[in-house]
Amino acid sequence: FLDIRKLQPSTGICTYDPGYTSTGSCSSTITYIDGKEGVLLYRGYNIEDLAEQGDFLDSAYLLLMNELPTAEQKATFEQEITMHTLVHEQLIHFYKGFKHDAHPMAIMTGVVGALSAFEPYAADIADPASRMRSCLRMISRMPTLAAIAYRTSRGYPIIYPRNDLDYASRFLHMMFAWPTQKYDVDPVLARALEKILILHMDHEQNASTSTVRTAGSSQANPFACIASGIAALWGPAHGGANEAVLRMLEDIGSKDRIPEALARAKDKKDPFRLMGFGHRVYKTFDPRAKVMRKVCHEVLEHLQIKDDALLDIAMELENVATHDPYFVQRGLYPNVDFYSGIVLRALGVPLDMFTVLFAVSRTCGWVAQWKEMAEEQQRTPKISRPRQMYTGYMLRPYVPLGDRY
Ligand code: ACO
Repeated sequence: FLDIRKLQPSTGICTYDPGYTSTGSCSSTITYIDGKEGVLLYRGYNIEDLAEQGDFLDSAYLLLMNELPTAEQKATFEQEITMHTLVHEQLIHFYKGFKHDAHPMAIMTGVVGALSAFEPYAADIADPASRMRSCLRMISRMPTLAAIAYRTSRGYPIIYPRNDLDYASRFLHMMFAWPTQKYDVDPVLARALEKILILHMDHEQNASTSTVRTAGSSQANPFACIASGIAALWGPAHGGANEAVLRMLEDIGSKDRIPEALARAKDKKDPFRLMGFGHRVYKTFDPRAKVMRKVCHEVLEHLQIKDDALLDIAMELENVATHDPYFVQRGLYPNVDFYSGIVLRALGVPLDMFTVLFAVSRTCGWVAQWKEMAEEQQRTPKISRPRQMYTGYMLRPYVPLGDRY
């Protein structure tokens, strides 16, 4: 057979790096990770400080604008974020088109993609003001879209956003309030959610963020790019891990079954992995997991949940696995998702909404990364286009239907 490689001009040397473990796809000033030391910085600020001392607006502004806001900038930013929490009424009809048992992440992929049709200015990605508007509107509208996804999937009436509340409280209110009853958001739970949102905002070039950048490199509509990020986040190896952790802890069921789970995780013939353990970049404790573990204890204490079976299993599992040579040698330690599921469950968030919450938070990182990519594209346009190592057939003659067997 003819070797087609001999016919085409050489395209030069390229690297073969499945999973891009050693490939930098862009330069960025947003997030720094030191996987060996377990350090995560947003624009140079430590994630633990941002989560413990700052609020949602501080981190969202920081990711987008490169600096922490002054009091005046923060007030303007808050107003911009709060002013656009409502979505077009027509969009609400989209939710009714989904099957009653559709996963909320499927719904979110659809409705966020559909936003492209409702935000006409967004197509003008060459205009910096339009780009910023897309970023702000995306952050504003995400909690509303997420809460509607939850409520329509349950047949509950939609609760409109209360703009007198802060971002996290507004989200909890839209999720759990009932039109005929008074509902006060618990400030301790709202603060816990705020910390979860801050911790998940950005994590440099993970699968979903790379997807957003790749989609954006073709100059696609920014809302469509965010929808592609939501789709990538859904998988259990990425954002779906918090849901998978809880299902795993429930399956383990009791502390005495932990050795069995560990043995399965080590068995290469068994596809089972310890969910919430391991990370492509962190080969030590994920710094977000440390904050999350603290939040977990605070929330359970506040709610006076003394004996939480899943927390007991989680703590024991962490203790055993982090002393087990298999996990230590491979640098497999708890990641952010290990404890976040237990906190979300305590907040009353249903399992199928865990990854949606992650998407609400990660939207801040996605838009910051998309904006940085779009600015770079204005200077030097370059569509993302990886090469491949072709291992299939070379040119072969077409076989007519009657001659195939
Ligand atoms: N349980 C058991 N073994 C594991 C686990 C785990 N959770 N994670 C990795 N390993 C093992 C692999 O089997 C492999 O072993 P080997 O060298 O003997 O073949 C070794 O550790 C390296 O694993 P890779 O798959 O090459 O690591 P990679 O960096 O590609 O994967 C990932 C990272 C996907 C996060 C992986 O650790 C995993 O599947 N973890 C569980 C899912 C999870 O918690 N995902 C959330 C990530 S954080 C986030 O998205 C916010």
